[in-house]
Amino acid sequence: MTIGDLQKEFEKNYNKQASHVFFCPGRVNLIGEHIDYNGGQVMPCAISLGTTLLVTANDEGVFRFRALDFPESADIALNPEGYQKTGPEWFNYPLGVIQEFQKKDITLTGLDFLFSGNLPIGSGLSSSASIEVLTAFALNELFNGGLSRVDLAVLGKRVENDFMGLNSGIMDQFAVAMGKEAHAVLLNTDTLDYEYLPFEIGDYVLAIINSNKPRKLVESKYNERFNECRTVLKQLQEKIQAQHLCDIPLETFQQEEALVADPVLRKRALHVISENDRVKKAREALTTGDIAGFGQLMYASHDSLQQLYEVSGPELDAIVDFCRTYDGCIGARMTGAGFGGCAIALIKQDQFDDFAEKVTAAYEEKIGYKPGVFSSVIAEGVRKLV
Ligand code: GLA
Repeated sequence: MTIGDLQKEFEKNYNKQASHVFFCPGRVNLIGEHIDYNGGQVMPCAISLGTTLLVTANDEGVFRFRALDFPESADIALNPEGYQKTGPEWFNYPLGVIQEFQKKDITLTGLDFLFSGNLPIGSGLSSSASIEVLTAFALNELFNGGLSRVDLAVLGKRVENDFMGLNSGIMDQFAVAMGKEAHAVLLNTDTLDYEYLPFEIGDYVLAIINSNKPRKLVESKYNERFNECRTVLKQLQEKIQAQHLCDIPLETFQQEEALVADPVLRKRALHVISENDRVKKAREALTTGDIAGFGQLMYASHDSLQQLYEVSGPELDAIVDFCRTYDGCIGARMTGAGFGGCAIALIKQDQFDDFAEKVTAAYEEKIGYKPGVFSSVIAEGVRKLV
């Protein structure tokens, strides 16, 4: 939809034009999975798909939430005391953001919102971080909040953790707030130091393959992994000095793994520590133009997420298994939290259409329904359109 079409939709809802239009992308994570809540380094990038927000202030002290892609809507009175999450509905994300702005004593007025997105929802492309950072960016502009992009990412994470109850890390919000065209963001999730790495992959393209598997259990399993990491860290801290699991060198962990009696917890720690190592190697591969090496690290990351961290599943595995057999592919892995959602792959540009056709056929035969396949451009982070 064009901005003009969206303005018409806004007028239908509110009988007036929106004063501002903002856009926030989604993200894929190239490598460094499930380590952003363990002080590790991650390598996400913002993509061209995302969420658009049209918004205008009202003087009735009401927040009106409407979206083109969701049937649910809400009118919630501005309340200086704060708000309660009403359930899993989408408008709780912007509501949580409003709460965080009020906590910072930034004075708000009522607002009429219209959201519209083209990110497949619940597909692991961070549609929720996109809404959070989008709303935060808009409020910051409209009410002169004076917050930096990094502040907006931190605020978005707080909404996810405190308002929505998911113990996620900072990666998604940081990627969509700070993304840079044609670059991956190498982020140290402990210090928030970051570096932009030119994503130069020669005659390959970044393909996104959506398993189209509805992601169930993702919240409960995610928090379960978070707690497992806390537990195993405590056990290792009996002998090893470390604030985060990712502070522990792989060799140290291998020498001391007897500190962890439970084999499942040992697997979790091994994933986290070795994945952090792979990110460092991936940086090296990318900066020296070793695309094949980068691809191998993607496959190794997938194996670890499948076997040690156990967050993949038959659908994502079917995609990556097919990729391994396809000669125009040099690397593939699940991306994001897992349990469904998307995989990414590096595919020879001139074979992309052939790949899309063949991966679709192979997946449908094994899983029973089609995946979504598209190639993606690495794009800028959140921004003002009008
Ligand atoms: C979700 C979370 C992120 C990160 C990934 C897994 O996307 O929101 O913080 O933990 O899962 O890497």
